[in-house]
Formats: sequence, structure tokens, C-alpha cells
Amino acid sequence: MTLWNGRFSSPMAASLWDLSQSYSFDHILYAHDIVGSKAHVRGLEHAGLLTGDECEQLLSTLDAVAQEFEDGSFVRHEGDEDIHMAIERRVTELAGATGAKLHTARSRNDQVATTLRLFTRDAVTTLTKDLIDLVNALRELGSRYPEAYLPGYTHLQRAQPVLLSHHLGAHAWSLLRDVDRLFDARGRLNVSPLGAGALAGTSLPIDPAFTAKLLGFGEPFANSIDAVSDRDFVAETLFDIALVGIHLSRMGEELVLWTTSEFGFATLGDDYTTGSSMLPQKKNSDVAELARAKSGRLVGNLTGLLVTLKGLPLSYNRDLQEDKEPLFDSLEQVFLIVEALRGAYGSMTFHVETAQRAADDPNLVAVDIAERLVEGGVPFRQAHEQVGQLVGEAAKHNISLAEAVAQNDQFAPFADLFAPGASLRGRTSPGGSGPVSQRAQADRLQVAIDVATARLI
Ligand code: ARG
Repeated sequence: MTLWNGRFSSPMAASLWDLSQSYSFDHILYAHDIVGSKAHVRGLEHAGLLTGDECEQLLSTLDAVAQEFEDGSFVRHEGDEDIHMAIERRVTELAGATGAKLHTARSRNDQVATTLRLFTRDAVTTLTKDLIDLVNALRELGSRYPEAYLPGYTHLQRAQPVLLSHHLGAHAWSLLRDVDRLFDARGRLNVSPLGAGALAGTSLPIDPAFTAKLLGFGEPFANSIDAVSDRDFVAETLFDIALVGIHLSRMGEELVLWTTSEFGFATLGDDYTTGSSMLPQKKNSDVAELARAKSGRLVGNLTGLLVTLKGLPLSYNRDLQEDKEPLFDSLEQVFLIVEALRGAYGSMTFHVETAQRAADDPNLVAVDIAERLVEGGVPFRQAHEQVGQLVGEAAKHNISLAEAVAQNDQFAPFADLFAPGASLRGRTSPGGSGPVSQRAQADRLQVAIDVATARLI
């Protein structure tokens, strides 16, 4: 028996029940639904639709139901279609005639939108916190190896030596943009739909601004039809998570590469690697592979919801119930990856010598030689051409660029560039990968972390 049985003469078919019930997944919304209901109850009292005693009774009953969920004693009844109905059914059981007043001037349409916004607001806040923790882990790893450098790559070909802290900083900045994006999304989702009713409001004298304030929303909805139809906030959150996932996937791919014998730049702690069931020597970076893989699922959840929303007529349609599983799944997955990657970076040993040996590849100073020529007045295109010819000659004679430079009168004065780390030290442009620029960047990164952290409160 559902709570809306009045007009029906036969019960719902079992197959329709299985299709339409959402309790099996939306029960995790119980705490936010109860918070929303408590504000609604206060709003009803404020509107004169409940007496003070009735209000108190409903508030304490809602608290009692919350407690049942907390201690695991809540029992779902046959007929509890979703979390909203289950809670209302239980409140009515406990509070009798007063319980039957809970849903006054409210529809599940404005209720579910309110509950989901409250839930998403909290989840987004937690995710920004976790991302800032991951940024801090990257920063800490960089400062554990302040002098370390490695080859920087373009097209996955060695390009120029870069400082490890500078390289990790690049990931940190992309994650801080994600944090910023989530804060923006949180601002837009912080609008209360409560009081929109089924779609068109109500003849009863409720005040949506009053309940919006109680729930900490920035403002109440402007348009009741929009309030119950809008799932932009879910789509936007899913996009933000998908982009986080893509950043984490790129980091995962890099960890996979760095921890191969071929690269040998890093080893993850034993607690962040897995073995093989057959090959005793294996130490696999599954954490990085899974971080790489999960992005597919996060993009899929976003795409799925967008397709569900496309073409939906105003206002509420049952299709909107399909917003929840992608949202819950993306949140669950992104929390898992962020936490595991944070631990993996914390456990990492960076193999300074191996990475530096690769970065001291003489070819990586080719552009520095060209820049020396530029300092001597040679136009860059000509300098590029001359150094390019020297690189080509060296390759043809199977000698290193350092040897070719030493044997060439024009270039011999630049031999100092082949000293380990010389290329890096000479790189002074702001934001670039030289020790002086990197120090300034580390300060700037720290300011950005502090600003983001302050916004959490
Ligand atoms: N479980 C539903 C959902 O998630 C609640 C709203 C149902 N509303 C309705 N008019 N049938 O969207």
C-alpha cells in the first residue's frame, strides 16, 4: 500500500514496482531528507498550518526516525517506494494524526529536489576538501625532493629538464581549478526548491524564503516550474567530477609509466601496490591503473544523465529519478580514487638519480644552446637551424650532442650547459622550470591552497 493509493482500484504490478521503486538506492538520502522535512515543518508552523505543539511533535518524531536510520533499526515496509515515502510513512505511524500533516503544501517533486541539493552541497564540500588534501600530498612530495629533476616531455619525447616540484605543481594547479569549479557549482546549487509544490506552488500561505534560510540556502527558487524540473546542478556536479576524473586519469597514466622498469623514476610503497597471482616478481601499480580507468565511468555517468535530461518536457517527469544513481556512483568512485592516489603519492619513493640521468641527456639542452646564440645576436630561427644541424651531425656520427659541441669551435664555449642541472639553473622565466621561478611558484601555489582552504569554511 503506497501513500497515494486513493484513486486506484488495483495494486501496482510487481514489475512496475521493481522498475519504479527507488528506495534501494535513494535510502542514503535519509539524513538530508529529514533535515529538509524539519525545515518544512517549521515553515508550516510559521505559516500557521501547524500549532506549536504539532510542530514540536513532528520535529521530535523526525529526529526519532533519523535515529532509527542511524542505529540500523529502521525497517522498510512493503509500499515504501522511495526514501521520502518511507520516512513519511514512519512519521505517520509514530505521530498519528499529526504525522498525516507533514506533507501539507509539499510534493515529492519539490521535496526530492530539496533533498538532493542538500546532499549534493555536502558531498561537493567533502570532495573539495579531499582534493585539497591531494594537492597538499603533491606539494609535500615535491618538497621531499626539492632539487630533483626529470625530463619534461612533449609528445612523450624528452624535451627539457624540469624540476620534480614544478612537474607535480602542474597537476596541483589542475586540481585547484577543479576545486574552484566545485565551489562555483556549489554556489549555483545553493538555491532552495522547497515550496514549489508539485510544479505550480500552493494556495496555502507558505513562505519559501523562510525555509530556504533555515536550510542555509542562499535564496529560494524564483520559478516553481523550474524548481522541480531543474537538474542542472546534478549535471554540473557530474561534469566537475568527470573532469577531476580525467585529471586523475592523466596522473594515473604518469604513475604507471614512472613505475615501470623502463622509466624507473618512482616506486610506490608496498601498501599501495599489488602482486601477481602467478609471477612472483611483480609489483603492480594497480592504484594508478584504476585511477586511469575510472574516468571512463565518470564520463559515462555525465553522458547518461545529459541524455536523460535531453528533450524532457517541463516540469517534473519520473525520468528525473534517474539522476541519483549516476550522481551517487560518481561521488563514490571519485572519493575512492582521490583518497587512494593521495596515499600512493605519500608512499612514493622518487628515484632521483635515474630521473636525473634521463634528464641529463645532452640533447635536452639543444634549445639552451640556441638561446645562447640568441644572446649573441643570432635571430632565433637561424640559431634553431644551426643547432638542429649540429644535432643531426651528432646523430649521423653516432656521438652525443655534448661531444659534437666540444668538437666544434663555434659551439665549444657552450659546453658548460652539459653540466648536470645547468639547463635548469639557467631557466629564469617566471612560471618556468628553474629553481628561482619554482620558488616563486611554490609560494603562489601555497597562496592558492590557502585561499581554497579558507573557502571550505
Ligand atoms: N523517487 C522520486 C524521484 O526520485 C520522487 C519523486 C516522485 N514524484 C512523483 N510525482 N512521482 O524523483
